Amino acid sequence: MKGTLKYLRPYGGIAAWGVTIKFIGSIAELFLPLLLDYIIDEIVPLKDIVPVLWAGLLMLAFSLIAMFGNIWANRLSVSAAAKMTHDLRYDLFKKISYLKSEQVDEVTVPSLVSRLTSDSYYVNQMVARTLRLGVRAPILLVGGIIMTFIVDAYLASVLLGCVPFVIAAVAVITKKSIPYYAKKQANSDDMVRAMQENISGVRIVKALSKGGYETEKFRGISDRLGDTDLAAKRIMSLTNPLATLILNLGLVVVIIVGALMSDGAGSVLAVLTYFTMILNGMLGLSKIFVVLSQGIASAERIERVLKMDTAQPAEELAEGCGEYAVQFKDVCFSYNGVENNLTDINFALPHGGTLGIIGATGSGKSTIVNLMMRFYDADSGDVYIDGRNVRSMPPEEVRKYFGAAFQNDFLMAGSVRENIDYGRALPEDSILGAAKSAQAEEFVAKLHGGLDYDLAQKAANLSGGQKQRLTVARALAGQPRILILDDASSALDYETDAALRRELADKYPQTTKVIVAQRVSSVRGADMILVLDDGRQIGLGTHEELLRTCPEYAQIYRAQMGEDV
Ligand SMILES: Nc1ncnc2c1ncn2[C@@H]1O[C@H](COP(=O)(O)OP(=O)(O)OP(=O)(O)O)[C@@H](O)[C@H]1O
Ligand SMILES: [Mg+2]
Repeated sequence: MKGTLKYLRPYGGIAAWGVTIKFIGSIAELFLPLLLDYIIDEIVPLKDIVPVLWAGLLMLAFSLIAMFGNIWANRLSVSAAAKMTHDLRYDLFKKISYLKSEQVDEVTVPSLVSRLTSDSYYVNQMVARTLRLGVRAPILLVGGIIMTFIVDAYLASVLLGCVPFVIAAVAVITKKSIPYYAKKQANSDDMVRAMQENISGVRIVKALSKGGYETEKFRGISDRLGDTDLAAKRIMSLTNPLATLILNLGLVVVIIVGALMSDGAGSVLAVLTYFTMILNGMLGLSKIFVVLSQGIASAERIERVLKMDTAQPAEELAEGCGEYAVQFKDVCFSYNGVENNLTDINFALPHGGTLGIIGATGSGKSTIVNLMMRFYDADSGDVYIDGRNVRSMPPEEVRKYFGAAFQNDFLMAGSVRENIDYGRALPEDSILGAAKSAQAEEFVAKLHGGLDYDLAQKAANLSGGQKQRLTVARALAGQPRILILDDASSALDYETDAALRRELADKYPQTTKVIVAQRVSSVRGADMILVLDDGRQIGLGTHEELLRTCPEYAQIYRAQMGEDV
């Protein structure tokens, strides 16, 4: 919670100013019934219009101070809360973009989305409401009690008798509701997950006519969220009526006692008004408890992410062989720490060479890329880039070596140019050259506006092959030292795929290339092909060598050439 509150510090001035004005406004409000009592019991009996008018003006002044004070203070508190939430959300977003891959796996993307959206909203509500009610409610409550004593001690003691009951009721109810708010946020993660899946997978849902199935699934999640919310609200909804009931019982006694022994109608009226104020004070406090319980649960969820250690320290490690652009030495890796996803991977790729990686789905091809780029660290063995152990370099430095087109890579809403450039302010020539090499030039020229053609979100207005060509262009545009194409030409026809490979060989001779593919034709020209099976390296060599030495590779080749189907 402390971690979240520190975001309020820069706006402490605004918040303090708001609280002060609220204080003045609430005190002014507190004096109104006392004035009323005085006017009714002391001034009205004088039957003189002048003092009545003066007293009326004084009441008006107090009312105005109370009203404008409240409005102004509310604005200030909303503004302080909005600003601090803005900063908090910004930092959270920044943190998320630096999270290690395993940390994202652990928290899950939907939960990160909901922390960024609904949790930060609850923190905002907590701060805004606490600033608004945090001063007013206690003043109305405590001040109301004191004022009642000033007006009439007898009536005040009746009132005081009720207060402990009300406080006990509010406290018990609020305590019971708190666990539901944490649960509600967990359910909200499920809801975001379902929405994301459903909306991104809208085509498959439609293709399999599973709209009904998905709707039912969503209904289940939505019901669970609704039920938890309802359970929390059902408990909290007892507060108001229960507090009112207890105070109203007190009120009956006040009227009876007042009728028997009070010294004037003004006092009874004032005490009744203070009663309402005290009630409002208590309800205000219970509202604070609600937003606090919800806000604290959310703040903790946000802080859990903010506190994550994203540093991937650069260790002092022995250098490898500088001759190689990429080298894997006895590398083993597991995502879940249970079964290995890669076992004993060994290869050394010279500068400017091309490595092809081939293997069945799930055999660990993308995992090799993940380790190369230090998205994850190997459990044992070493990965070297340019002769340097990746663990001796900060991840950002590792990534400077690479230009990558990942499997199912994404394009964002924006122009073709923005997508290729991706905020690097590259010269026009590089963008055009990359588009040309990636075989994208022709189709881009046909788009309305060419490079300025606006892509829809996720580039929904392009075909699969067109998208792949743009992701390849993006990878090439920065003239990387190592180029990674993970299944990046799977949607290209054979001819375009071949043209792309020719272009890479001709125009990027210095660039080391790592090409992950399912098609033998995409990797057969590589200097070295790594064959993977269930995370194990079952073959390494050129196409010809593998045909002789690796039966599995020969089998894949024959199957794809149509000889063994
Ligand atoms: N983030 C992850 N968390 C846990 N397991 C993972 C993760 N990513 C991949 N895996 C597992 O690691 C294994 C290798 O996955 P990888 O993505 O490297 O396969 P691949 O060879 O690239 O497959 P494909 O050809 O389908 O892209 C698979 O069994 C997969 O389930
Ligand atoms: Mg893959």
